[in-house]
Amino acid sequence: MNLKAYLRSRQLEIDRTLDRYLPKANSKPATLHKAMRYSLFAGGKRLRPILCLAAAEACRGSIRNALPLACALECIHTYSLVHDDLPSMDDDDFRRGRPTCHKVFGDGVAVLAGDALLTVAFEIVSKARPAPRYDMATLLREIAIAAGSQKLIAGQVADLEAEGRKASREQLRYIHENKTAAILTASVRLGAMSANADSKKLSAITNFGRGLGLAFQIIDDILDVTQTSEMLGKSAGKDIAAKKATYPAVIGLEKSRVEARRLTRKAHDALSSFRSDDAEPLHALANYLLEREY
Ligand code: IPE
Ligand code: IPE
Ligand code: MG
Ligand code: MG
Ligand code: MG
Repeated sequence: MNLKAYLRSRQLEIDRTLDRYLPKANSKPATLHKAMRYSLFAGGKRLRPILCLAAAEACRGSIRNALPLACALECIHTYSLVHDDLPSMDDDDFRRGRPTCHKVFGDGVAVLAGDALLTVAFEIVSKARPAPRYDMATLLREIAIAAGSQKLIAGQVADLEAEGRKASREQLRYIHENKTAAILTASVRLGAMSANADSKKLSAITNFGRGLGLAFQIIDDILDVTQTSEMLGKSAGKDIAAKKATYPAVIGLEKSRVEARRLTRKAHDALSSFRSDDAEPLHALANYLLEREY
């Protein structure tokens, strides 16, 4: 398959749908809606929604049914970035190739834009048409738990608390599984749920998401060390300066690469029961995430 064209067409479709779901930039309060759109339409890779749609495809579902869930995931991800960049968190000036939300709109509006992106995600989920096996309550619970105080936010808390300390491999894994892998796992699970996947398929997709999700944050840590800010569209080299608990810091660069490859292989293996045609986009995405340069 032509991955580049596939990514491009999915990104366009997701951007079009997000634009429909979000309040217009000039609707009151305009500053807030401008800030939300500034961060949301800054050119993110849209990996979580693309993975959600690809999982729906793998389970023979329709893109159309998965799209609201995919867009909700991107709103949650973008909120987490806006807050992650705040001076009281990672204190970053660049994101997605432009100044961070708080640099342009101020800390107060950036906090509120993050709050509003998180909230609108649930409004968007409510537009989904649930499949027979997974009702609306199940979809809402899935996304609330992944974004909540025991997953994404738990990981962010542990990430802050580990700054400047020597983290064990166990602590590091906890941080990465929660701050990053949980939403990536929920992304493919929600895609599968929108396609009415049976429990065997859903469990295979879950294992795929876990391997891929952890590998994803390891690669993010590696790129922070090996890439330039221009390439990443966000400030490189920040993790060492902030004494963050990262894979390269704890086990070294080469072992981190080996670990990311091992986890990606595990992700591929999890899909062995799928017809290869159906799961081709998921396999291609897993390879792309491992080899990406930004
Ligand atoms: C960055 O995520 C934050 C992490 C969880 C590592 P992405 O690399 O997917 O960022 P965007 O969405 O493309 O900007
Ligand atoms: C971000 O991890 C995880 C979340 C935003 C939940 P990082 O702090 O490593 O992400 P970047 O490197 O700033 O994108
Ligand atoms: Mg962070
Ligand atoms: Mg950060
Ligand atoms: Mg990072």
